[in-house]
Amino acid sequence: MAYRIAVLVSGTGSLLQALLDAQSAGELQAQVAVVGSDTATAQGLARAERAGVPTFVHSYRTGDDRAAWDEALTALVAAHDVDLVVLAGFMKLVGPAFLARFGGRTINTHPALLPSFPGMHGPRDALAHGVKITGTTVFEVDAGVDTGRILAQHAVPVLAGDTVDTLHERIKVAERALLVHTVNDLASLHPRAAQGDS
Ligand code: GAR
Repeated sequence: MAYRIAVLVSGTGSLLQALLDAQSAGELQAQVAVVGSDTATAQGLARAERAGVPTFVHSYRTGDDRAAWDEALTALVAAHDVDLVVLAGFMKLVGPAFLARFGGRTINTHPALLPSFPGMHGPRDALAHGVKITGTTVFEVDAGVDTGRILAQHAVPVLAGDTVDTLHERIKVAERALLVHTVNDLASLHPRAAQGDS
């Protein structure tokens, strides 16, 4: 039985597309079972729909009860009986209820070599600091901001004349391959951990 993953996105969804492309090429040892977003207009949702993957939207508005939002997100993902949750450009922090259910099996990507440049602006901060090498990190999500156990990293050079956008795009090329690789590693290490977890 296929190793099932949920992918959560907020924006463009090019990391999600890399997973979908690898799946259709037979190069992903997993099935994208559901794609969720906090943003109804996220391009990632359209990518999932084109691939025939079920989707959900779970918006958060300023002033909403954060704990209730987190519990509802947990239930939406849990309904799909997944082994792994992949945050792929998901710009919300998951909370205690989510981590109680999916802690240890939720991964995130970050566009810098953690622990350097955590937060929302990894490429901008790396450029501002003048580093010559940055990169991407896939890590296990914990209660902190980009603090979880590091699973994989790939270095990317900063080139003369780089802007935040050109640097981030070069990092994203590396991120897509690293994410597919890491999901495959986890699928082979922990096949079907979530049986009956619906
Ligand atoms: C990626 O660079 C990912 O690492 C980053 O958002 C981008 C998503 O790209 N995530 C974070 O910064 C999380 N804090 P995409 O929407 O094209 O997949």
